[in-house]
Amino acid sequence: MPFDRHSIDDLRSQADIVRVIGNYVALRKRGASYVACCPFHHEKTPSFNVHPGKQVFKCFGCGVGGNVFTFVMRMEGVAFGEAVRIVAETCGLPLPETRPVTAEAERETEERERLLRLQVLAMRFFQEQLTRPEHYAAREYLAARDVSEDTVAALGLGYAPDQRSSLTNFLRDHGVGTAELERSGLVSVTDGGSHADRFRGRVMFPIADSQGRIIAFGGRTLGHGEPKYLNSPETPIYVKGRHLFGLHLTKESIRRAGFAILVEGYMDFVRLYQAGIRNVVATLGTALTEAQVRQLRRYLETPKVVLNFDNDRAGQAAVRRSFALLLEHGFRVNVLHLPEGKDPDDFVRARGVGDYREQLKQSQPLIEYLVDVARFEYDITRPAGRAQAVNAVLPYIAKIADAIERDLAAERLADRLQLDAAPIRSELQRAARERRAELAAETVEVTTKLTLAEHSVLQVLLAHPPLCATAFEALDDELIDRLPGRVFFRAVREVYLSGRAFDYPALAQAVARWQRAETRSDATGQSDFFAADDAPTPLDLEMENYVAELLLRAEPPEDDAQVERYRAILEDGLLVLQQRRIEQQSTALHHLVRKAVEANDEALALHHANERLRLKRARLMALSKRYQR
Ligand code: CTP
Ligand code: MN
Repeated sequence: MPFDRHSIDDLRSQADIVRVIGNYVALRKRGASYVACCPFHHEKTPSFNVHPGKQVFKCFGCGVGGNVFTFVMRMEGVAFGEAVRIVAETCGLPLPETRPVTAEAERETEERERLLRLQVLAMRFFQEQLTRPEHYAAREYLAARDVSEDTVAALGLGYAPDQRSSLTNFLRDHGVGTAELERSGLVSVTDGGSHADRFRGRVMFPIADSQGRIIAFGGRTLGHGEPKYLNSPETPIYVKGRHLFGLHLTKESIRRAGFAILVEGYMDFVRLYQAGIRNVVATLGTALTEAQVRQLRRYLETPKVVLNFDNDRAGQAAVRRSFALLLEHGFRVNVLHLPEGKDPDDFVRARGVGDYREQLKQSQPLIEYLVDVARFEYDITRPAGRAQAVNAVLPYIAKIADAIERDLAAERLADRLQLDAAPIRSELQRAARERRAELAAETVEVTTKLTLAEHSVLQVLLAHPPLCATAFEALDDELIDRLPGRVFFRAVREVYLSGRAFDYPALAQAVARWQRAETRSDATGQSDFFAADDAPTPLDLEMENYVAELLLRAEPPEDDAQVERYRAILEDGLLVLQQRRIEQQSTALHHLVRKAVEANDEALALHHANERLRLKRARLMALSKRYQR
């Protein structure tokens, strides 16, 4: 039934457009309007405007604009009437009055209303059956599963007798016609054309929409029959994947708590609800849908969920899709995995609701959870494994709607994979910022070893070997020893001093020798290198790749200006490497100071402290020189 014009206008003027739109996008105040990045097209700088005074929105990027209703229609993909309902509900305003128009629309509305009434009729029937003496087994089943009478009443649970057509007969007795019976989803038509109850010998769970109207049922067998749960088919009033079980009972608690707990099963919902945890809804074992996510979002200012699904399902594609969907819609997602693979129902019954609340506090941010899964799946002690782990998580980071959250997630990923090197961190961060779903394996592999500064120094040295003179004056042995890429630096220095050309064989050979020396010096000291024969050593594949990459990228300067640019890159890089040495020395001195203080040796402590100050000053000087350039 269409709405009355005047009351629609009333609602539009009373509805707060900023509040409604603010539920979907992060608005920032700018002058008299609010701005955000447009939710209807992809953009990096905000051109989407909401004007509270005029109660309109407009995107100057893609041109979309309108009022609060048109926004909700676009955003939720719903018809006008539904948008009106959503706006009214969001703003806590009464629904506008309706008036009938076309006969067709009226007929449809009436049919929907009849079907809705029919579901209520059925619910009453099931409820009544549950109280009957002959159905004690159903009551015993519920008692054995520790479902209280209050819960039975609150959720409207009932029982469908194990008879061919008890409900069908009941409905017929109440004047329900055949066509309607068939559309109700409660009755099935047999091959012979007769009608029979769809649900038999099952505990019945009414499924309601967010306004609490019963639209369908789920039924569970009392024993071990198959299927364990049976649900209504789709009907004119029930579209699968549109609803979240229990939301009508818990939406206020969800709003108050500021987050929702998502569980899978009817009984998981029942258990938490009965135990007083009311900010919960159940997905009923399927993957989340866009409609469900949007619906949930309505009740949360900063959308946040804790997913408490079965352990054994966590790896499944459906759950992974749910993760992605929630992230895309700006949700903060935590994952709760209960010990011993228990579902919430099992866990609360075994350990009590107090323990459950404890577990809830320990739920993990989704990204951390995904990294832990990846750490388990891949061997992160190896570079290739680290690359795989990064790329297993990165797609989810890319889906995080908020840029700052994305940044933090990249940090977390680096932390948990122990990717300490600065370049991989910054590369990851860049990938997160650009919402890339993948990082080239080589980036992860090589840069976990070499820092960016080392890499750029090596690069310019190969591009323009005469720069080696300056470089190796600044890079003494002690400094080179501290570098993760020392093998490459030693090899380049050796080739340079030998006067040979920087070609692949010369470099690869030198790298291989220094690498071998490195492994030996671990045990016997560096002098071994000179004793080593020149037997060819197979070069580690990663190193070989890296040498090849360096050579491929080395472009000789074309003019003096380019030589100068290379020199600037070199000096910059050298400075960073020297800085790092200073930092390390400074940390070492800090320890020495503390040791001396602990030993009550004031003089020594002072000496080290002074030394540290001197270093700091030198560091600052060098830094200021760098920034002056
Ligand atoms: N489900 C379903 N049909 C099935 C099995 C499951 O619709 N044959 C849905 C139900 O909504 C169920 C949810 O998926 O609640 C979770 O399924 P599962 O974990 O197998 O069942 P539990 O909820 O643990 O059921 P119970 O505790 O009653 O055994
Ligand atoms: Mn269960």
